[in-house]
Amino acid sequence: MNESVIKTLTVSFVICLVCSLVVSFAAVGLRDIQIENKLNDQRIKILQAGKIYNPEMDVKTQFDGLEVKFINFKTGKLTSEFNNLSLDTYDQILATKDTDLSSKVPQDKDIAIIKNRENIGKVYIIRDSLGEISKLILPIRGFGLWGTMYGYISLENDFNTVAGIEFYQHKETPGLGAEVDNPKWKALWPGKQIYQNNEVVLKVIKGKAESDDSMYAYKVDGLSGATLTSRGVSNMIEYWFSESGYSTMLKELDYES
Ligand SMILES: Cc1cc2nc3c(=O)[nH]c(=O)nc-3n(C[C@H](O)[C@H](O)[C@H](O)COP(=O)(O)O)c2cc1C
Repeated sequence: MNESVIKTLTVSFVICLVCSLVVSFAAVGLRDIQIENKLNDQRIKILQAGKIYNPEMDVKTQFDGLEVKFINFKTGKLTSEFNNLSLDTYDQILATKDTDLSSKVPQDKDIAIIKNRENIGKVYIIRDSLGEISKLILPIRGFGLWGTMYGYISLENDFNTVAGIEFYQHKETPGLGAEVDNPKWKALWPGKQIYQNNEVVLKVIKGKAESDDSMYAYKVDGLSGATLTSRGVSNMIEYWFSESGYSTMLKELDYES
């Protein structure tokens, strides 16, 4: 009896050990693939926000065709180099966890509830055949109802008209706030205007924007049953297009063109 208990325990232990080893090796072995897949998903969202994603083509090849620049949020300047940071590997979200690379957003300015803003961000540029900027793709993020929503918005070359919007990570509820991913809702964005007289006016409203409304270009239909997520999207637009975000950079680009 005793012997059979020991045997049973030994067999269970060996099975557990073997299984745990298999799971750990799989987890470690697949980690790089998972990281690469996650990166690829994000690259697809960047390309989709810029309305240039071609599912028939290799993602990395398409992504490598984009020009990437650092943005110094303190000065609004775009640069190809910043200290020892690499444009390929620099992760601006990770930078928000490092007090040397980020700044605490003062409470009265933290409309998107991001708490820390990276000092250096990244922007993606699409150029036309003459080398002029045709679109800019800008990272945005802000709190929804359940957590931070991370995405990209792209602008046409007037640096005011929206070309597209995409979210690559959020915790909103499927069927409610997660409708930020609904292609029909995302299709409402192209053509909308961010600024009117230098003020950020674009908002996700409650209900439906009417095309005969004189402010139609500044209004996106609300997500039904998800007023709080909708407000979160409005807040992130307001924050990232303010002076804490991209407005200084956009004004300087505007003066150049
Ligand atoms: C389980 C559950 C999940 C919800 N998820 C969301 C959500 O993801 N986004 C959101 O804005 N509201 C969500 N809500 C609803 C909010 O609590 C709130 O009622 C809603 O934002 C009000 O929107 P309305 O004025 O359009 O009805 C959820 C409610 C429940 C009960």
